[in-house]
Amino acid sequence: MLIKSPRGWELPERLATPESVYLNRRQLVKAIAAGPIAAAAVAAPFGPADAAEEVVEAANAQAEADPTLDLYPAPLNGAHADAGRVVTPEADNLTYNNFYEFGSHKQIWRRAGDLPRRPWAVAFDGLVEEEKTVDIDTLIRAMDLEERVYRHRCVEAWSMVVPWTGFPLKDLVAFARPLGSARYVVMQTFDDVDWAPGLGQFWYPWPYTEGVTVEEAGNDLAFVVTGAYGKPMANQFGAPLRLHLPWKYGFKSVKSIVRVSLAEERPTTFWEELVPSEYGFWANVNPDVPHPRWSQAEERVLGTQDRIATQIYNGYGEQVAALYAGMEDESLFM
Ligand code: MTE
Repeated sequence: MLIKSPRGWELPERLATPESVYLNRRQLVKAIAAGPIAAAAVAAPFGPADAAEEVVEAANAQAEADPTLDLYPAPLNGAHADAGRVVTPEADNLTYNNFYEFGSHKQIWRRAGDLPRRPWAVAFDGLVEEEKTVDIDTLIRAMDLEERVYRHRCVEAWSMVVPWTGFPLKDLVAFARPLGSARYVVMQTFDDVDWAPGLGQFWYPWPYTEGVTVEEAGNDLAFVVTGAYGKPMANQFGAPLRLHLPWKYGFKSVKSIVRVSLAEERPTTFWEELVPSEYGFWANVNPDVPHPRWSQAEERVLGTQDRIATQIYNGYGEQVAALYAGMEDESLFM
């Protein structure tokens, strides 16, 4: 096993993001708008070429049918243009997903193909000036989309680098028009068993629920995702709207959001309710705080053979550590 021990973000040169790979993906999207594309062009790093082609073709078909396709590729945010590592090949990402509504294994992409992306509405309720339900296309078009390349670290000790498209979570909160008494932003996934068979597994506390404080939601890194790899995102990534909080373990990044609630009380989140001894509310990445059943010191970089040292706050401490000043008594890292 190859163990790497980079200092901070001083990563081996060959791990630096090759701009050519990245730019090719952006150019690819323009090709999608123009018609069928050569999926194999992006699929090379993934297992058997035909399987890779199939999964990328499925993602491209979903993107082509998406009513917001014309918004892609969105302008790249220069402050988040380079995550310091190679972007995870799209086919690897498309075939290694956590989305328990479709099953408790990673190969859920075929099942997720049945997710009805439209019509889709998002409800805003709780401590808001006025409760409302908004059509997803109206919501997305009310936002300024941009692209950001983020590191994505799962609590299961694997990681990826993903070029997401979306908008800051603080813009979604502003759209909700919260009352001054709101302290938490709570987000939920759809809960219709006709859409996803896993929802019939009664022992899970559906719907998948996550939340952050209003202060965390206001941090510039907190991102609401609508697209990935330069096009509307594939179903298995949590279409048509998901969260990504790059300094937290991936389970905080709730997928396929249908409800945004502003609340005074801290919510009990999905994994916290299921296994409170293993998963908490804060879930900030920290290599020094092991999961009760495994170490968090290192991570397996998907799409490569590498294992690298995990960074506190997934390397985003400069931007987020201040959020947790004076909270030493809280379980910030589980
Ligand atoms: N959201 C919902 N609704 N259902 C899930 O099972 N899994 C979480 C998170 N969001 C999950 C979810 C976990 S554990 C992780 S690591 C990330 O989604 C995985 O995102 P990815 O499949 O895009 O890598």
